[in-house]
Amino acid sequence: TKKNLILAIETSCDETSAAVVEEGKEILSNIISSQIDLHKLYGGVVPEIASRKHIEKINYVIEEALEKADKKLEDMDAIAVTYGPGLVGALLVGVASAKAIAYGLNKPLVGVHHIEGHINANYIENKDLKPPFMCLVVSGGHSHLVLVKDYGTYEIIGKTRDDAVGEAFDKVARAIGLGYPGGPKIDKLAQEGNAKAIDFPRSYLEEGSYDFSFSGIKSAVLNYLNQCKMKELSINVADISASFQDSVVEVLVNKAIQATKDYKMDQLALAGGVAANSHLRKKLAQTCKENNIKMYYPSLEYCTDNAAMIGVAAYYDYKKGVRHSYNLNAVPNLKI
Ligand code: KG4
Ligand code: ZN
Repeated sequence: TKKNLILAIETSCDETSAAVVEEGKEILSNIISSQIDLHKLYGGVVPEIASRKHIEKINYVIEEALEKADKKLEDMDAIAVTYGPGLVGALLVGVASAKAIAYGLNKPLVGVHHIEGHINANYIENKDLKPPFMCLVVSGGHSHLVLVKDYGTYEIIGKTRDDAVGEAFDKVARAIGLGYPGGPKIDKLAQEGNAKAIDFPRSYLEEGSYDFSFSGIKSAVLNYLNQCKMKELSINVADISASFQDSVVEVLVNKAIQATKDYKMDQLALAGGVAANSHLRKKLAQTCKENNIKMYYPSLEYCTDNAAMIGVAAYYDYKKGVRHSYNLNAVPNLKI
């Protein structure tokens, strides 16, 4: 029998990506054209520039994905695309391309929630992972604790009340002069720093809450920098990186483990760009082991934005009969 083939497209932020996914698990291709070098000049993603770059790149990226997979558009069973959340102008490029292809070839169109994609990235390399499980989703725009009840069925049990964790990494990195994107730079620099050097606050909110708050720690770092400046003290960016990272990771790990136990789960998955953080992976692995929880995470390529994860999520939705009309629109604040 013919295997299911999905062409997936992702353009929600600053990565133009297309992938061909077979049977929801074999990644035949995953082409990612990053705009990071361009946005770096401005210290962050400039939405207008992102949209324009997506338009320039999208057709080539799709062609390359098909070529690498050795498939033709006609071979696809469905066209999948991220339709939210994200930057509206950026999302629109992917959505318009997917709709044009689906309409032109009379193929089913499956719209995917970006976070659902991040969660589903865990199925790519962990063939034994099956729902139900707890998932800690940490990216530049989101910090969520999600109970994955079944394929395509999610319950958000906690989320950030202010900044996303990746956003906090990026803002702190900018403040200490590391540039964009800050997450990977702080991760690297922290390895040379002392995590006990500065006592930054750990925000647990009220007892029993699975929500997060990262604006307090961000402000604490900025205040610390101001204090040093006023007192003319030298600053150690490696120590700041390590101390900041340690306090953020401690809260993430403790809340994720608590949620996993409270919901009687024995599996915990990591997802999103910040899942690439080496300290988070290490701390979480250690704590999971102590609590007899099996831990899963995607490899680096599938942690940050990519179309393969969108194709995997779309496969399960497609199997359930999810189809979107050719009127599908980008929804920048789409709810899961
Ligand atoms: O998932 P993603 O590629 O895009 C969003 O959907 O937001 O996540 C990007 C975020 C950025 O904030 C980046 O700084 C952060 O992930 N990030 C990291 C690391 N690698 C990427 N944060 C901490 N440590 C890392 N190694
Ligand atoms: Zn993302």
